[in-house]
Amino acid sequence: MVLMNFNQQISTLRKKHLLRSRKISENAQGVKMVIDGKKVINFCSNDYLSLANNEQVKNALIDGVKRYGVGSGASHLVSGHSDAHHELEENLANFTGQERALLFTSGYSANLGVFSALRDEVDWVLQDKLNHASLIDANRLIDLPIQRYLHNNIDSLAKKAEKQSGQGLIVTDNIFSMDGDRAKISDIEKIANFSNAFLMQDDAHGFGIFEANIPKNSIYMATLGKAAGAMGAFVAGNADFIDYLVQKSRPYVYTTAISPSLCCATLKSLELIKSGEQKAKLLANIDYFRNFAKSINLNFEVSESAIQPMIIGDSETALKLSKKLFDAGFYVSAIRPPTVPPNTARLRFTLCANHSFDQIESLLNKVKDVMA
Ligand SMILES: Cc1ncc(COP(=O)(O)O)c(C=O)c1O
Repeated sequence: MVLMNFNQQISTLRKKHLLRSRKISENAQGVKMVIDGKKVINFCSNDYLSLANNEQVKNALIDGVKRYGVGSGASHLVSGHSDAHHELEENLANFTGQERALLFTSGYSANLGVFSALRDEVDWVLQDKLNHASLIDANRLIDLPIQRYLHNNIDSLAKKAEKQSGQGLIVTDNIFSMDGDRAKISDIEKIANFSNAFLMQDDAHGFGIFEANIPKNSIYMATLGKAAGAMGAFVAGNADFIDYLVQKSRPYVYTTAISPSLCCATLKSLELIKSGEQKAKLLANIDYFRNFAKSINLNFEVSESAIQPMIIGDSETALKLSKKLFDAGFYVSAIRPPTVPPNTARLRFTLCANHSFDQIESLLNKVKDVMA
């Protein structure tokens, strides 16, 4: 037997500037962090509303631990479904205007969960070309070909949908994770209705920030590890669909429920999201970032969300720029293939509610410097 040579695979990735590595942080997630021993301003967090280290959310978690302990102890269908889980599901359903919501341990597993439940019910799937990897992996699960329409291109979707027959599933990110732009949900809904397809949207990056457009009888998934500052995810929709997921979704059934104390923390996050204060700060930061970048002639992609990408092209240059920014005290990640299409390596800046205008200005001035 010849064993696979892992070392050679790693060296090949390194040569292509595609080797992934982890930096180690020493303090709570937030704007100011100590990463690999260096103090930096963090511009690559998904903690968009700066709730991950919020005092009220932390206290809710601590109170939750005092009441429920640490682990949930079992899956939802055995003895792991507490009143804290139940209350969070009810609140999430209410917040999104849906009949029911169902908690999952992560967004990745929620996406797998929906596809796994629909496995025997759909005849075709169409996905936006830039959908998140978890949706692509989920598609692979169900033995149907991954058919992809051009990114955010309704004509391309319509042309492909016309050719299908039977029950379909059209799937899109709402805010695209690597580009920050937004799907045209109303247009997609029309095509879904016309072509006998369910519409599923993944709103990992919009939940808590933008009001969701959730058409009747569609499937909505959002994560709780980004704007809500916690972890986990949920799927919301009509009561029958959620009941069906409880029966059929393997990643729901065969896993331990998230900690009840985390649900207590997320309930507090939801309260803070509803108050709108952090969201107003984030939206002001997004505006400030875009206007200041424009004023100093920096070219970003068009995005009104917290995700602001600057396409660089080759991976080596993107890595070098990211390193220069890090050395100057700004943490901005370089996103490379296969996460993004070939030759579109980029610096992906993400904004949070607790960034200050001064921090944004210093960052962008430094970006201008390192690009010169
Ligand atoms: C669009 C999108 N969907 C799903 C996920 C997965 O969510 P989670 O991190 O909760 O697994 C992510 C990112 O992590 C994402 O960006």
